[in-house]
Amino acid sequence: MSDAGPPHKRRVRYKGTHPRAFSEKYKELDPDHYAADVEKVMARGATPAGGHRSILVAEVLDILAPKPGEVAIDATLGHGGHSMELLAAMMPGGKLYGLDRDPAEILKTEARFRQAGYDQSSFVAVHMNFADISLLCADGRSGGMVGGADMVLADLGVSSMQIDDPVRGFAFKFDGPLDMRMDPGSGPSAAELLLSIREIDLCSMLDDYSDEPEARIIARVLTQRRGTVRTTRDLRDAVEYALEGRVESDDIIKKAVRRTFQTLRIAVNGELEALDALLAALPGCLNPGGRVAILCFHSGEESRVQRSFQDGLEGGVYSSISEEGVRAGPEERYGNPRSSSARLWWARKSADAGMTVQGRSFATGTETERSASGSPITGIS
Ligand SMILES: C[S@@+](CC[C@H](N)C(=O)[O-])C[C@H]1O[C@@H](n2cnc3c(N)ncnc32)[C@H](O)[C@@H]1O
Repeated sequence: MSDAGPPHKRRVRYKGTHPRAFSEKYKELDPDHYAADVEKVMARGATPAGGHRSILVAEVLDILAPKPGEVAIDATLGHGGHSMELLAAMMPGGKLYGLDRDPAEILKTEARFRQAGYDQSSFVAVHMNFADISLLCADGRSGGMVGGADMVLADLGVSSMQIDDPVRGFAFKFDGPLDMRMDPGSGPSAAELLLSIREIDLCSMLDDYSDEPEARIIARVLTQRRGTVRTTRDLRDAVEYALEGRVESDDIIKKAVRRTFQTLRIAVNGELEALDALLAALPGCLNPGGRVAILCFHSGEESRVQRSFQDGLEGGVYSSISEEGVRAGPEERYGNPRSSSARLWWARKSADAGMTVQGRSFATGTETERSASGSPITGIS
């Protein structure tokens, strides 16, 4: 008998040049069998489907400076690329709490950490919105964390795994239901949002969240087509129709489509509200001398982070902050186009600053629990 393991199954061949199903197309989804294909995809500057390439990893490590025995919170665990590197530097004795609001992806990432040898004493996966981070820090729920963290990392937005999966409805490369929820169990989908949103509010969102110059006409068409924009292709078609004859270049239309998708994603997930809550809670979560690094991808995120860090510096909560967002170098930008829009901002908490979370002191612990996001918090490990 052979001990070569289970027989290798051929992947289902897709017919024609335009496969309809994601699962039929990408060899990269099975990296064990198609390692060479994964390498080829990466060499041409693309991200393998179903994977995620972490951005500015060396710079994040430099800023957070993890040490053995420290405690870290990765507020956006995702594929776990940053966390894996942080944890390695925190051993022995370190502990990392990985938060994600995506119930499916966090399970897969947790399994990867267990396989890498990290048990509950060093890695705790927590399914929660980082808007509620103060509950995790303050009362020791979701894995027994009491007190503060030496490091907090947030790599904002969505992962390639989420974008690449048409069922999640984040992109129009393949048609899929217009969903866009990072946590499909929480709140209305993008299609549902479009059923009720007022034209004027949608117009402001397109302007505020994505600086869309054609916000008015896009908002008008999307509200006129109310009830018929149910899939990612419906949304793309509606934006293209709105701009037909108004703008010259296909490139401008493509950018408008991308900005419309980004706007709806931000709205559906309450991304800016969650970021505001995280920024407000950070001083209470960090130990004195603790470090925070936040990767931003658009001006709406950046301006909030900058303002909060600047206020913290002026108020004595932070002892130093980044003056400029750290950007990826040309090599990383070529190898991972998503890194082109990334800016890394950081702050260091003053060594003599206290540990107050939105008016609640760790020492007295008298305030009742609040969930800023309204979502449940689940320790899944
Ligand atoms: C860009 S990915 C993080 C990738 C990760 N740094 C890595 O190296 O693999 C962002 C992740 O954060 C999660 N996320 C975004 N907003 C969140 C929030 N408010 N609370 C918790 N998780 C969030 C998304 O579901 C996604 O998995």
